[in-house]
Amino acid sequence: MNIKNSILKEGVKDYSEYASAIQKLKEEKNAVILAHYYQEESIQEVADYLGDSLYLAQQASKINNDIIVLAGVHFMAETAKIINPLKKVLIPDLKAGCSLADSCPPGDFATFKAKFPDAIVISYINCSAEIKTLSDIVCTSSNAKKIVESIPRDKKIIFAPDKNLGAYLNKETNRNMILWDGSCVVHEAFSFEKIVSLIKVHPKAKFIAHPESESPVLDIAHYIGSTSALLNFVQKDKTKEYIVATEVGILHEMQKCCPEKKFIPAPVEDDTCACSECGFMKLNTLEKLYRCLLEESPEIKMNKKLMDAARIPIERMFELS
Ligand code: 13P
Ligand code: SF4
Repeated sequence: MNIKNSILKEGVKDYSEYASAIQKLKEEKNAVILAHYYQEESIQEVADYLGDSLYLAQQASKINNDIIVLAGVHFMAETAKIINPLKKVLIPDLKAGCSLADSCPPGDFATFKAKFPDAIVISYINCSAEIKTLSDIVCTSSNAKKIVESIPRDKKIIFAPDKNLGAYLNKETNRNMILWDGSCVVHEAFSFEKIVSLIKVHPKAKFIAHPESESPVLDIAHYIGSTSALLNFVQKDKTKEYIVATEVGILHEMQKCCPEKKFIPAPVEDDTCACSECGFMKLNTLEKLYRCLLEESPEIKMNKKLMDAARIPIERMFELS
């Protein structure tokens, strides 16, 4: 859906009206907008910083403005607050969660961790602040391999919460990390059989995938990487056509960077759903972004003790990135 249609669907104002109202509010309130590639196109277009989880966390740590609007999911906004606690951090929809983060309840994880007292815990940034406090170091899909490789080979490692990313890293680094059984609903929805059929229909296309996808899907990928890595790859690579297994929002920036190339979303099991859209990410709309700036709400509020403890493994990640 193009930008204008996605706004008009809400029946309030058109894109340019929202965009200029948001611009004015940003100036008045000394605010800045950080958006993830999975946000709807209209939000990506008004963002000051657009990127993957690592980039958004790194930018958030450097921002001097009074207000940060994190147009992404809750763990991203929470991370921004943890690393820049004196700023007011807003999120367009507080219900924008993440199936991966939800798949790792802190109480259950603490019990699991206690079974391996000598293990180092690496947690994927897609988890709650409570899980971060139970972790030694955080990683994102951009730096996960590097972070795992920074741990001595004789050390036992627990990797949480994404079992698919964990299994991929085990293969890549030749380790045997203990994996928490969590996953992303979006990346698990891709159909291996349909992807194989689609590759046959587009024999010149390269198949590229995010490492949150399941092993059989990753095994047939020409390239695997974080959203930013996928975006960089299609810009440098000479191929003209790609089948892309990650949330469809990234196709907007890919198409902008490479207007002459063709990007095809990887097919999902269930033809009746828009499963390659993250329903959590898409809870944020341009109208909600405008309202959250106007009302300075919803705001991410956290207690200091939790923030201080969760910051330690994030800062370790920054040092290694
Ligand atoms: P990256 O953009 O860091 O690759 O993460 C993907 C994702 O699932 C974010 O929720
Ligand atoms: Fe979470 Fe998956 Fe959505 Fe990313 S795409 S926010 S991992 S549910």
